[in-house]
Amino acid sequence: MRVCVIGTGYVGLVTGVCLSHIGHDVICVDNNEEKVKLMQSGQSPIYEPGLSELMKSSSESGRLQFTSDLAKGVEQGEILFIAVGTPPLPTGESDTRYVEAVARGIGANLNGSGYKVIVNKSTVPIGSGDWVRMIVLDGVKERQKASSVATNAEATIEPNFDVVSNPEFLREGSAVYDTFNPDRIVLGSNSEKAIAMMKELYEPLVSREFAEDKSLPPVPVVVTDLSSAEMIKYAANSFLATKISFINEIANICDRVGADVTQVAKGIGLDSRIGSKFLNAGIGWGGSCFPKDVSALIHTADDYGYNAELMKAAVNVNIRQRSIALEKLQHELKILKGKTIGLLGLTFKPDTDDMRDAPALNLIEQLNRLGAKVKAYDPIVSQSGLSHGLSGVIIETNAEMLADGCDALVLVTDWKEFLKLDYSKMAKLMTHPVIIDGRNFLDREALEAVGLRYLGIGR
Ligand SMILES: NC(=O)c1ccc[n+]([C@@H]2O[C@H](COP(=O)([O-])OP(=O)(O)OC[C@H]3O[C@@H](n4cnc5c(N)ncnc54)[C@H](O)[C@@H]3O)[C@@H](O)[C@H]2O)c1
Repeated sequence: MRVCVIGTGYVGLVTGVCLSHIGHDVICVDNNEEKVKLMQSGQSPIYEPGLSELMKSSSESGRLQFTSDLAKGVEQGEILFIAVGTPPLPTGESDTRYVEAVARGIGANLNGSGYKVIVNKSTVPIGSGDWVRMIVLDGVKERQKASSVATNAEATIEPNFDVVSNPEFLREGSAVYDTFNPDRIVLGSNSEKAIAMMKELYEPLVSREFAEDKSLPPVPVVVTDLSSAEMIKYAANSFLATKISFINEIANICDRVGADVTQVAKGIGLDSRIGSKFLNAGIGWGGSCFPKDVSALIHTADDYGYNAELMKAAVNVNIRQRSIALEKLQHELKILKGKTIGLLGLTFKPDTDDMRDAPALNLIEQLNRLGAKVKAYDPIVSQSGLSHGLSGVIIETNAEMLADGCDALVLVTDWKEFLKLDYSKMAKLMTHPVIIDGRNFLDREALEAVGLRYLGIGR
């Protein structure tokens, strides 16, 4: 099938590359010319395991193109994905201006070249499906008006399209794997024709042709109305964020009563009604999705006169949790002014270069405010040599340089390579051999054996 993906960030680029890999003809559109040039030269603008390799092979096969020309993308695609960002506004609402610009642009470029399915893959507020339809039609009308003024004639194009909501559930750091091995595919629309085309598009994934375990039953496809599909995305992220806040709250109680949250999580996670995932206590959730999606759903609820108390509590627990590492540092070192703190990891989770709303940013700000010197080593950020817009932190090129002269280390991101560092050598380089394991990730006994004072979260 002919696919156009508009917006080539973590979601759009991965979607475009993976759809071309499974046999579709894909054109990816982005309005960032620099990004487009980079992708045309075969390089990925983001770090995602396995993405560069697939991008290379798909580009070589001729099934994957990149352009900044929206008209060309709209012309070529029969399925048009909107995958632009929907960042939070200061009020907590979702900023839909990028989706709006794309929908208007699609409308302005629908030239009667046949039926199109317009797919909302961006996470958009409930009700956006109908709104996108309206904006596309506005775009059509604006173009018709402009062309009839120019040619002095009535130019009428009958727009022929449907809108589908197809929320994305990939996780940064395993986005390619998740695309080929989805838990489910959600399709929301009131058009049977559009749903049928989407099912055809995803058939190779549904039948697990590209899955790690091909013997599994087909991927469930959940077909809903537009609003329910949009709600599924918000509800999923809000549930996961709430689950983490729950275990963080338990961890804080464990800290006070002397229980170990890792043992508690194991004990409750084995209950099949609860499940073991997302029960890792730590320094709070962050990233490009959870904070903004939970806030957006709370905001939507408010708009409709409902006070979403549980989700508000999940957010409040998280705000408090973002200070937990600082509290532990103050408890250990007392005055932080003049102390040097080393952060192991900066990105909001391992295997990504994404720093959006990362807990590290909070910690850097808080430590700076209290007069501490902050250094950091992150496998991706340090390697890239880019500052990633960070200020108030010295980026070191390896973990030993990080440890040198530190009064304490804080493990912020659970990168696998942090399991294998030479902590014995690092402890000797530190002024005070203290480590706060913000993800309960490291081997406590091994660290204590090399002379480090180990502090976890809720243990
Ligand atoms: N990142 C994730 O893990 C994830 C997971 C699931 C869902 N989502 C949702 O998917 C959407 C995209 O997220 P992302 O992280 O990929 O965003 P991103 O910020 O990484 O990428 C957005 C891209 O859209 C491009 N863009 C913006 N306006 C454009 C326009 N008018 N025309 C063409 N391109 C334009 C930008 O240049 C950028 O490359 C968001 O709604 C997000 O909530 C993200």
